[in-house]
Amino acid sequence: MDPLLGAYDVADLRELARRRLPKGVFEFLDRGNGEEAALVENRAAFERYKFIPHQLVDTSRRSLEVTLFGKRHKMPIAIAPTGSAGLAWYEGEIELARAAAKAGIPFTLATGSMTALEKVAEQAGGTLWFQVYMWPDRAASHRLVERAKAAGYQAIVVTVDTPVPPGREYNMRNGMTVPFRFTRKNVTDVMMHPRWLGGVLARYLATTGFPRYENYPTEVKARITALPMGRSMMTTDSLTWEDLRALRKLWPHALMVKGILRPQDAAAAADCGADAVIVSNHGGRAVDSTPAPIDVLPGVVEAVGSRLSVLVDSGFRRGADVVKGLALGAQAVLIGRATLYGTAVAGEAGAARAIEIYRDEIDRMLALIGCPDIGALGPDYVVPARG
Ligand SMILES: Cc1cc2nc3c(=O)[nH]c(=O)nc-3n(C[C@H](O)[C@H](O)[C@H](O)COP(=O)(O)O)c2cc1C
Repeated sequence: MDPLLGAYDVADLRELARRRLPKGVFEFLDRGNGEEAALVENRAAFERYKFIPHQLVDTSRRSLEVTLFGKRHKMPIAIAPTGSAGLAWYEGEIELARAAAKAGIPFTLATGSMTALEKVAEQAGGTLWFQVYMWPDRAASHRLVERAKAAGYQAIVVTVDTPVPPGREYNMRNGMTVPFRFTRKNVTDVMMHPRWLGGVLARYLATTGFPRYENYPTEVKARITALPMGRSMMTTDSLTWEDLRALRKLWPHALMVKGILRPQDAAAAADCGADAVIVSNHGGRAVDSTPAPIDVLPGVVEAVGSRLSVLVDSGFRRGADVVKGLALGAQAVLIGRATLYGTAVAGEAGAARAIEIYRDEIDRMLALIGCPDIGALGPDYVVPARG
């Protein structure tokens, strides 16, 4: 196998994934919400910041290593939680987590994963974070967090930007549901993608049955009916800062709050004892028409940067984007779709290729802008584009 997989950047991986996956699965991974204005804005925003390189700086011994919550990591990126790596590849969460572990970066498992959290911990190793979607039944959520603790997860990521399931019409049009069920609508789509049918769906059917949310309580799993992908019946619109305080009492390790766009909310998270906020608009998949996280990042860093860590995600497709995020004050960047594309193309090898693309691009960019140490990145390396 070509170790580069014929992919020279993330756009190549996306195109390979598009060819391999049924349209319904690809669109679930790739698309946004509503008019997809936030999705477009996330990418456009990066060009509002331009690099202003320092010349004649010795960068020959640069390193990409960063420290997060007292632990050293090889690169300033982490894998974002996505409830769908297991649809991109058979037990894709394990493949993606292994690639992350080998690359020395954290992997975040989603509540809505298709592989149980204990199985991922047993088979992947590395730094594992667990993403929590609070359920209407708080006690059930707390039991899930206890399971993550028992399985050795080192941090939780509490996602707060999805109080109701986002209305993604394309999932309904495509007839894509979880648990996956054959319908007249999706059968043709799946038949036209025999590699996915044979390599992913058939393997589930031969082992555990139709892919479903394996972290859910047994009684819920048993009565789950097929819903459009991403439309879990387990979301809750009654979450408050009190819930965060309760989680803080329960969870002894790092606690991150994901989906923050306002400095005031970041400050409230700090007041509740959070260790980090993740500035994010869910990759343009929650509220359509929000500012790009990169644009609100400096305000959040200014408000709470001295009290907790600030991470960011949404739309980071290039190493250059990651370097801009760090220069604007983030300590690390989470990557969602890019590593899913890689996983869809070749499982662990594909995910590893996606991570390698970021490593090469970040490393090259540091040299090009004359930054000898990733920790030295700051506003001095970027200027606002002239409007
Ligand atoms: C297919 C897919 C599923 C996702 N599922 C979740 C999830 O279950 N929980 C969550 O907090 N974020 C979820 N996200 C959002 C990601 O964690 C992350 O915020 C986003 O993908 C970052 O943007 P990017 O894809 O442009 O890198 C999902 C994103 C995608 C693309």
